[in-house]
Amino acid sequence: MLGKVLVTKPVFPEAIDFLRTQVSIDANVEDRVLSRDELIARLQGKQGAVTQLTDIIDREVLESIPDIRILCNIAVGFNNVDIENATRLGILVTNTPGVLTETTADFAWTLLMAAARRVVEGDSFARSGKWKAWGLQMLLGHDVFGKTMGIVGFGRIGQAVARRAMGFNMSIQYFDSQPVPPGAVPKGVKAVSLETLLSTSDFISVHVPLLEETKHLLNDRAFDSMKANCIVVNTSRGPVVDEKALARALKSGKIAAAGLDVFEREPEIEPALLDLNNVVLAPHIASASRETRLKMCMMAAENLVAGLKGEEPPNLVNPEVLGHRRR
Ligand code: DGY
Repeated sequence: MLGKVLVTKPVFPEAIDFLRTQVSIDANVEDRVLSRDELIARLQGKQGAVTQLTDIIDREVLESIPDIRILCNIAVGFNNVDIENATRLGILVTNTPGVLTETTADFAWTLLMAAARRVVEGDSFARSGKWKAWGLQMLLGHDVFGKTMGIVGFGRIGQAVARRAMGFNMSIQYFDSQPVPPGAVPKGVKAVSLETLLSTSDFISVHVPLLEETKHLLNDRAFDSMKANCIVVNTSRGPVVDEKALARALKSGKIAAAGLDVFEREPEIEPALLDLNNVVLAPHIASASRETRLKMCMMAAENLVAGLKGEEPPNLVNPEVLGHRRR
């Protein structure tokens, strides 16, 4: 056996079966997040862990788990782990990029279409018994085809969202603070400044990681500069959007609608948003297809085994650690 590992929350049995061939497992089988103290206690004597984005692994936790050599997050995002301190302490951290790109892009579009065409309001109305006759002006929404799509963050998922927008004959523009390789930008897709994107897009879909610089990237000022028909979609991380500012913009009609899969204080949702009809809310399920979630679990398990074998895990997010990794 390569060592002992903690699986912090239930995962697909296929991943457990694979891990069992290589490591001895302590799996939390309850569908709840371990408290900080429980997490620290159960990580004692473990060399690795399969973690989820609900596990907050900050400096204090990292400094309390001397045996851990690798943490494998089942998510492409890893803002729940203090990477700087993990690296300092010689702990490898991995994520699950790539496998969820198309599924997440599909869901960004699901939210976009649902918000534009008022699907959730329509569903409630259809069930309510209040629908008496077809209405020419009933539940009027916004056209999507031919409009301008603005993509904030043009990495894998942003690009996948753009590919879908082409099928809707949209003008597509993106903003990214990092250079995007020319081969990754389809013909006709324009790079613009954030200001231009915010003020000229009919739809804005956000695909940036959560960093100091991206916290509240969409704030009062950003919403003020948007078109009144603008629809904003966020499937990245909640704190990228200032929820109170968004609620103000939606309520006052500064923007038309929004679709959110992620929230600032999950699973809490800003109460002002809950009162609004022009926002579609989803409980962080953008990558939640069975196929994709299984691939994410397997990827994390494979990263873990590679790391404990002393190899470089395929999806290492902190390669700087390699020179001083824990043995
Ligand atoms: C991620 O992978 O970061 C998502 O938020 C969950 O799939």
